[in-house]
Amino acid sequence: MKRSIVLITGVNGELGRSLLPRLTAAGYACVTLDLVPLPESLRSFAVASYAGNIMDRYLLDQIAAHHEFDAVFHLAALLSTRGERDPELSHQVNVEGTLNLLRVAHAQSARLGRAVRFLFPSSIAAYGLPNLEVKRAVGRAREEEWNVPITMYGCNKLYCEHLGRYFTHHFRQLGALAGAARLDFRALRFPGLISADTVPTGGTSDFGPEMIHAAARGEPYDSFVGPDARIPFLAMPDAVKALVTLLDADRERLTTTVYNVASFSPTAGQIAARVARAFPGARIGWAPDAARARIVDSWPEDLDDARARADWGWAPDYDEEQAFSDYLLPRIRERYAAS
Ligand code: SER
Repeated sequence: MKRSIVLITGVNGELGRSLLPRLTAAGYACVTLDLVPLPESLRSFAVASYAGNIMDRYLLDQIAAHHEFDAVFHLAALLSTRGERDPELSHQVNVEGTLNLLRVAHAQSARLGRAVRFLFPSSIAAYGLPNLEVKRAVGRAREEEWNVPITMYGCNKLYCEHLGRYFTHHFRQLGALAGAARLDFRALRFPGLISADTVPTGGTSDFGPEMIHAAARGEPYDSFVGPDARIPFLAMPDAVKALVTLLDADRERLTTTVYNVASFSPTAGQIAARVARAFPGARIGWAPDAARARIVDSWPEDLDDARARADWGWAPDYDEEQAFSDYLLPRIRERYAAS
């Protein structure tokens, strides 16, 4: 049987590097796109890989002409701290780039006569809470609550969720194409992600993974948020599992295009305490950066993922204890011992 083809953008990012081997193992034929060439170590997982920009519509059309992909994982993005440093570029990459991919996926759906699934990592950054008092009172935020982000990246992600919903249900609703197959957009609102294999770049949830990886390398680390800062996190294998499970979910069972997923919600101080127990020489200091800390404070302390659990059976494999003892610590130790 012909293998189902998926296109992955931003494959060299944290999510992409974990997702690619997992999709290949699940039997998908992966076509990848990133600004930089796919590293040698990942090449065998892709049937074709392209180095190029998602702003290059000609390249995207070429890729679509060569590969009849049934699904797109559009992972390419600038994260929240990077986006605040260059908001206009953030808009271009995160919104215009996404629009380019939606356009190509829509055209592919029309060509194939069936809906191309479009998997989109959205973010906890789509929320915006005005202060810590409200943050504590809200607790676990539901998808439709507090959608007033304070970062460009959060605005970009929230708008792209709407674009995806629009392309799925309403695109060209007045035109001759009104009856044509539309794409099938599915977004996950991820909390902070922690991987044992990679460290994120340009995000604002980075204090969690940075603290852990610095201690494992024997380096000191000054956290840019204070010890009381709290947001939810997900271990990388669970993030990948969520993407793959949502890809395969029966569309009839999906009641929305946007789903929260989360697992554990430690404070930065609690992460630091776990790190100090695991690496007794760890040197973790506190040097809060007011602006970045404010962004973290604007994100909910937990996400209500009841809808994902009900519609497509979401459940994380790793709670906080398991994430550290069964995944992060053994793998990180092994990784740095080998290097
Ligand atoms: N991890 C992202 C960031 O910090 C949030 O989605 O920007």
